[in-house]
This record gives sequence, structure tokens and C-alpha cells, in this order.
Amino acid sequence: MELLDAIRSRRTTNGPFLPDPVTPEHQKLLIEAASRAPSHFNSQPWRFVLIEDETIRRRIAEIGGQTMTQLMEEGRFFQRYRKYFRFSQTELEERRDGILIDQLPGPLRPFIRQVFSDKGLFLMNKLGVPRTLGEDNTRLVANSPLILAALLTKEEYKPDDLSGYYCLLSLGMAVENIWLTCGDLGMGIQFVSTPMEIPEAWDEIKSILQVPDDLELMALYRLGYVPKDQKRPRIDWTSSQRKSMAQLVYRNVISPETCWSDEENL
Ligand SMILES: Cc1cc2nc3c(=O)[nH]c(=O)nc-3n(C[C@H](O)[C@H](O)[C@H](O)COP(=O)(O)O)c2cc1C
Repeated sequence: MELLDAIRSRRTTNGPFLPDPVTPEHQKLLIEAASRAPSHFNSQPWRFVLIEDETIRRRIAEIGGQTMTQLMEEGRFFQRYRKYFRFSQTELEERRDGILIDQLPGPLRPFIRQVFSDKGLFLMNKLGVPRTLGEDNTRLVANSPLILAALLTKEEYKPDDLSGYYCLLSLGMAVENIWLTCGDLGMGIQFVSTPMEIPEAWDEIKSILQVPDDLELMALYRLGYVPKDQKRPRIDWTSSQRKSMAQLVYRNVISPETCWSDEENL
């Protein structure tokens, strides 16, 4: 795949993967791609755990689903992420960022805007939406043939230090390399981030993975081969919109006059 095609077609995979295990050759390519990322002084502060063991995957999946349900039932998820939700294609196209929930069972559609109010949350909980989403997520994660944990060495990753900032940049680039390689190999990838939002859940995952004191667990992903006819989850979103050049770029200095102009769009 050409590099620009790979970048343009990169997506988060929200739906299920095929059950086929990720071949050892592909696992090696993914990690090789990660390790080719730049890092400060070539420190390569990242470490990875490839998780194929079914019992471990299932337990991580259960924690993923339970934390999703808990965050949604308590309203924490909606409070924290309210600002990223768009409610129409028009709004999405105007803002050109955020996510639009465009796949929702009919009976829930009238409530989607209200989910951010106390009344709406009460209703959602009564309808069991957080539980349904949590269960769907558990199934998705448990049925993913590979879970990838990304870690940083604490020797380098000191959150209050410049090296901590460099580590985050480096790990981001390593993960992007993995993401792009997934596209080339017919694979997909998705963050499993809800356990990170509940410290006890994150601690449990660290303990399952036997993370030693000198490593920091940074992120979890589920990976696998993407089926030809990708089924969408019952509740799903789209987030393919991107900001325009004029919203992103300035020339030389930052002022309203120096932003990218329409004439520059070839
Ligand atoms: C730091 C970070 C955290 C993310 N957390 C999640 C997540 O918890 N679940 C998820 O499905 N996607 C997650 N994503 C993916 C974004 O939602 C996604 O990249 C964005 O909506 C753009 O969609 P795209 O990746 O399909 O282009 C995360 C991405 C980043 C960089």
C-alpha cells in the first residue's frame, strides 16, 4: 500500500474482527514498525505485550465492559466527553471534528440529545443502555484475537520531566506506525481505554499482565483481521471528518491574516 493511501484510509475499527489469530509474521511486522519510530536520543522507551491467551483476553474484556457500563451509568463518561459529541451531519461538517453517533436502534434515537442531562441519563439507565454497551464491548474485546499493551520504561517516563513529554511523543509515533501497518496487513485496531479511567480497574490489568515496578502501562488496544463485510455495532459513530487546512495552518506567524487561504487549495 502506498504511504499516503495508508494514511488516508487509516481508521479506528469499531466492529468485530475475524477469529483468526494474528500470524507470528504479522505480529513481528507490527512491532518492527513500532520500533522504527523516532525517540529522544534513540532511547526506545516503549515496551509491548502481545496478549493472545484466551483467559487473559477474556478478563481484560470483562474489565473493559464493566468499566464502560460503570462510567456511563454514573454519567462520568457523558460529562467528560460531552463536548466531542455532534448531533447532525451539518454540525459535524461545520465543526469538522468530534464524533457523530449515526448508528442507533430506533427506540433510542429520540433520547440521544438528552443523554447529557440528568433526566436523559436516568432514562438511559432505565433502558439499560450502559449495560448493553458494556456487554457489546466485552464481546468485541474478548473476540479480538490479539490485545496489545503499550508501556513505557519508568527510567525514561517521568511525567513531570521533559523526558516524560518526549516519551509520550515517541510512544504516539510508535503506535501510529502500528496503526498504519495494520492497514497494510488487512488488520484493524481500536483503543480499549475505559479501564484506564478507573484506577482500580487499571491496577487489576497491571496485575494480570504482571507489569513490574519499572514499567508504566500506558494503553491497551484490540487488534485482528477485518472481515470483508464489516458489521457495525448496534450503537456506533462516525469520526472521519477532518478540519480544513484554514482551520489548522498558519504561515510564518499566527494571525487571522496568515492562515491557509482557499487559493492555496490546489
Ligand atoms: C488518546 C486516544 C484515545 C482514544 N480512545 C479511544 C477509545 O477509548 N475508544 C475508541 O474506540 N477510540 C478511541 N480513540 C480513537 C479516536 O476516537 C479516533 O482516532 C478518532 O475518533 C478519529 O477516528 P479515526 O481513528 O477512525 O480516524 C482514541 C484515540 C486517541 C488518540
